[in-house]
Amino acid sequence: MSKSSLRAVRVSEHVWWVGAVDWAIRDFHGYATSRGTTYNAYLVLADKVTLIDTVKAQFRDEMMARISSVVEPGKIDYIVSNHSEMDHSGALPETIAELRPEKVFASKMGVKALRAHFGLEGIEAVGTGDKLGLGNLTISFLETKMLHWPDSMASWLAEERVLFSQDGFGMHLASNRLFADELDPAVLREEAAKYYANILLPYSSLVTKLLATVAELKLDIARLCPDHGPVWRTGFDILGWYRDWAEGRTVSKAVVAYATMWGSTARMAQSVADGLAAAGVEARVMPLGPAHRSDVMTELLDADALLVGSPTINNQLFPTMADFLCYARGLKPRNLVGQVFGSYGWSGEACKMMGTELEAMDVELVGEPVRTVYVPDEETLGRCRELGSEVGRRVKERA
Ligand code: FEO
Repeated sequence: MSKSSLRAVRVSEHVWWVGAVDWAIRDFHGYATSRGTTYNAYLVLADKVTLIDTVKAQFRDEMMARISSVVEPGKIDYIVSNHSEMDHSGALPETIAELRPEKVFASKMGVKALRAHFGLEGIEAVGTGDKLGLGNLTISFLETKMLHWPDSMASWLAEERVLFSQDGFGMHLASNRLFADELDPAVLREEAAKYYANILLPYSSLVTKLLATVAELKLDIARLCPDHGPVWRTGFDILGWYRDWAEGRTVSKAVVAYATMWGSTARMAQSVADGLAAAGVEARVMPLGPAHRSDVMTELLDADALLVGSPTINNQLFPTMADFLCYARGLKPRNLVGQVFGSYGWSGEACKMMGTELEAMDVELVGEPVRTVYVPDEETLGRCRELGSEVGRRVKERA
């Protein structure tokens, strides 16, 4: 047994959390993880000892130390890889090489991905409905393609009603408390929303299907165990949050995201926000740069409107606006109204470029773009206020 102070945490009678806490990560492929994250791996101490997922490569020792606190790692018979992205499989090749488990399982797509990433061979493919007998316990598999990669699947331990959901129902939140009911509910909702907006939003229709499948199968979940963030054992608020976000529920809110060089577009943004407020719609004014692209996406998750402002620099968008629009377009926000605005010195292409991007996101454009040369005068700021009000009225009409 390990002499490390790192310990497994008991999740249910036969299930232990043996993951790792990453307090330091602040950028997760372009998403600002301001509260760090966890890579959750779980050990099922059944007749056939089974490890569900592993951790990011550099956290392997932490996982092994936690495993060693409850069982000799060499006793692991099976490993199930629910998701092949490297935050969950990075430690897998070394773990297999060291422990030589009898069998390793993944979905069909997971088998391919693990071969491509690590050259792993001999992984057994399983799919929806397949069962894996562990002697005294049984795991069933449910593929959850595109939540969040094509290989993704969930595992259900029926006897203890534990759902291992990999990325689904996760959040990036480092903590030394494992269970959601031990953490601040406001932080949980904020981080879950951020995770949904930045990882799962484009696949909302699949989230709706997954929730329907969970209901159809009458999975009476006692423990919801994602691969990031806390384990749920009571309340399960996250299921309701996912339902709302997948359905695109909004809260009468507009996001005003802008870039600025010398303050002119910033002044325009403020006037747009004043107009929104006058129409009774809350405005979140977000200067790009200080406001990270992933935080803007979090605000957009339950917003009705997106207004974007940028100056023109060398005939192009300001770089932070180009970055944001590229990122946002990929995440496919839905059912937004909006418009564009910005100041320019001589050529002024930015508004047209932003308009093209909003159209590509199917944003319903309301009113006309507001453009101005160099510095907005009172008349221009009035037009910005009117634009904000017009968008605000449209938001109210749609409510
Ligand atoms: Fe947490 Fe898609 O990996």
